[in-house]
Amino acid sequence: MDKKVTVVGAGNVGATAAQRLAEKELCDVVLIDIIKGVPQGKALDLSEAAPIEKHDAHLIGANGYEPSADSDIVIITAGIPRKPGMSRDDLISTNAGIVKNVTREVARYSPDAVLIIVSNPLDAMCHVAFEASGFPKNRVMGMAGVLDSARFRAFIAMELNVSVENTHAFVLGGHGDTMVPLPRYSTVAGIPITELLSKDRIDALVDRTANGGAEIVKLLKTGSAYYAPASAAVEMAESILKDKKKILPCAAYLEGEYGIQGLFMGVPVKLGNNGIEEVIQIRLSEDEQAALNRSAAAVQELVGVLKKLQT
Ligand code: APR
Repeated sequence: MDKKVTVVGAGNVGATAAQRLAEKELCDVVLIDIIKGVPQGKALDLSEAAPIEKHDAHLIGANGYEPSADSDIVIITAGIPRKPGMSRDDLISTNAGIVKNVTREVARYSPDAVLIIVSNPLDAMCHVAFEASGFPKNRVMGMAGVLDSARFRAFIAMELNVSVENTHAFVLGGHGDTMVPLPRYSTVAGIPITELLSKDRIDALVDRTANGGAEIVKLLKTGSAYYAPASAAVEMAESILKDKKKILPCAAYLEGEYGIQGLFMGVPVKLGNNGIEEVIQIRLSEDEQAALNRSAAAVQELVGVLKKLQT
């Protein structure tokens, strides 16, 4: 393949993302993990599935970063996932150290890569990667909105018994309890869901979306969701690799957009070869803007925790 994507963290999200990237024949894949043998074993296993899945993507696993050199994209999933009863924010001290070290290595070997951060707490980990890489803001982004929107879309399709392909949804804000699903901009075949569902039902779906990650953690008991998170990261990577210029909700570094300054937040962006090519500004109602501000305050608080960890 003429494109190369490195996935750091060969656990549940990372290995699933590697599988999807290869099976969609988007790129060659380098899978990196600190555990000896695991990335090599998973890459080999995936390579042995290739004749059956009919793709020619090359996959290799490694414990060091040399094989990742000159990647077009690096997806960072390294870190620990949460367990039942934990919030994403409880992971901050462990994952901040991991994401910082990983990003430094990644940036050294792939100085022109686009970084897609998946490790949680997502918005705070984007700040860590942004600082550790020194990359421009268009090349550092977080995967959250695509996942949260996909969850909202899945719940809308279940509720109305329609094809998921007919659904479209927007979820903005931080990747946590304060995320901001936007029913006015969420549609089925172009029809806003506010025309199709009662306020009570919409509120219930919004609530399930905001707690979608916790619902899976509670069921799995030993880790967090990974099929949908991997799909979401790969949709972002595909738009960048193919320069599709899809508009997707992603965590982006804002400098005044939506009235937010110097913070990573989930907003609609255009994704192409250059990473984030544009932040799309949509008109929000007073209530929606207030919810986004509350979400920004929660992210700001976590960034404050990061600063304390550094001192
Ligand atoms: N360098 C490389 N890999 C690392 C490092 C490191 N410094 N530290 C941990 N890892 C690896 C672990 O060895 C493990 O294989 O990261 C992998 C994480 O995989 P899982 O434990 O299966 O976790 P996963 O479900 O994939 O979630 C990863 O994504 O969605 C978020 O909240 C989630 O922060 C978590 C991350």
